[in-house]
Amino acid sequence: MSIYDVIPVSVNDYQKKAKQRLPKFLFDYIEGGANAEETLNRNTSDFKKFTLKQFVMRDVSKINTATTMLGHKVSMPLALAPIGMAGLFARRGEIQAARAANKVDIPFTLSTVGVCSIEEVKKSTNKPFWFQLYMLRDRGLVLEMLHRAQAVGCTTLVFTVDLALPGIRLRDFRNGMLDGGFKGEISKAAQIITRPYWLYDVGIKGKPHCLGNLKHKVTGPNNLHHYKTFIDTQFDPSATWDDIAWLRSHWQGNILIKGVVEADDAKRAVNVGADGIIISNHGGRQLDGTSSTIMKLSDIVNTVGHQTEVFLDGGIRNGVDVVKALALGAKGVLIGRPWVYAMAAQGENGVNTLLSQFQNEITATMGLMGINNIDEITADLVEC
Ligand SMILES: Cc1cc2nc3c(=O)[nH]c(=O)nc-3n(C[C@H](O)[C@H](O)[C@H](O)COP(=O)(O)O)c2cc1C
Repeated sequence: MSIYDVIPVSVNDYQKKAKQRLPKFLFDYIEGGANAEETLNRNTSDFKKFTLKQFVMRDVSKINTATTMLGHKVSMPLALAPIGMAGLFARRGEIQAARAANKVDIPFTLSTVGVCSIEEVKKSTNKPFWFQLYMLRDRGLVLEMLHRAQAVGCTTLVFTVDLALPGIRLRDFRNGMLDGGFKGEISKAAQIITRPYWLYDVGIKGKPHCLGNLKHKVTGPNNLHHYKTFIDTQFDPSATWDDIAWLRSHWQGNILIKGVVEADDAKRAVNVGADGIIISNHGGRQLDGTSSTIMKLSDIVNTVGHQTEVFLDGGIRNGVDVVKALALGAKGVLIGRPWVYAMAAQGENGVNTLLSQFQNEITATMGLMGINNIDEITADLVEC
């Protein structure tokens, strides 16, 4: 955007605005990926490999983007992906995003490591949301969070399985994001001082800066480095599919397994009772050097699409991408960075506008392809 452009109209525009608002270490934390960021870049660029078919003169006067995801009605096949520490990117960010999602009847997913707790999000919103969980070593804590999520009416558990070890995100080491020592603190303070809006909105007014779901487990609950130490010791590299079977026996709602990219794993997820899978490489933040998610979609849909709902995230940046993913067999998609950029740039209003832009783009794409309904978006409408 130049200084003459007043309205952000794309994810790219929001990204630029977010960069102006956020201290560098936080912007990089959102934007960055693992290692050389190959997978991160492929996630977006591989959408260009697919082309849509255009059909004309077919009466597209009744376009409807509504559909269902896991049996629930949604206004469009889109959900907000879980984002850790979203409350550091805008004041009580999880609540702002949940409200925006509610407004257009799509799911918001709260991360295990959100700044706002399950109960705080519930209190501020009037609709059920999805809750995302990792397999933690402390299975008592896993059960506790399942019960808390169930108690506030979460319908769907998004269980993330691609974090056996934390990915190596070089930007976070370089700019002090992960450094709790003196040098790291000085570096972050210097970055914060250049962003007075953030300092006021989040730094002062957005407190407490803890991870709401875990604060009773961490000593020094207002120090994010204590959380990082706690989380690092809690990720469980010994977890296997048997643990998902255990989880299944403790959660009565839907389970979506997030972080599957190979058809063989998709089969295992279905076998242990998943209600759906999310093809995801964590937005290119975990294993670098892998394929984009969109290149994996057809294979997985062909393998398990007749048994379960297949969702996808990674690189979705506009309504055209959404339609491409649907044509390749996805039931719906999730967006991560797009909503965080919009929220960091303009808070809840930014997310509202972003979501209506996605809906307009899906509508226009469908109409220009000659179709009125989501279930008409089929594999014969896309070419590679
Ligand atoms: C800043 C950031 C934090 C994230 N935190 C989580 C998290 O707590 N749990 C999780 O399952 N995925 C997390 N993810 C991954 C997203 O849920 C999602 O898979 C990814 O962002 C999708 O790619 P996209 O950003 O290209 O849309 C995070 C992603 C980002 C960018």
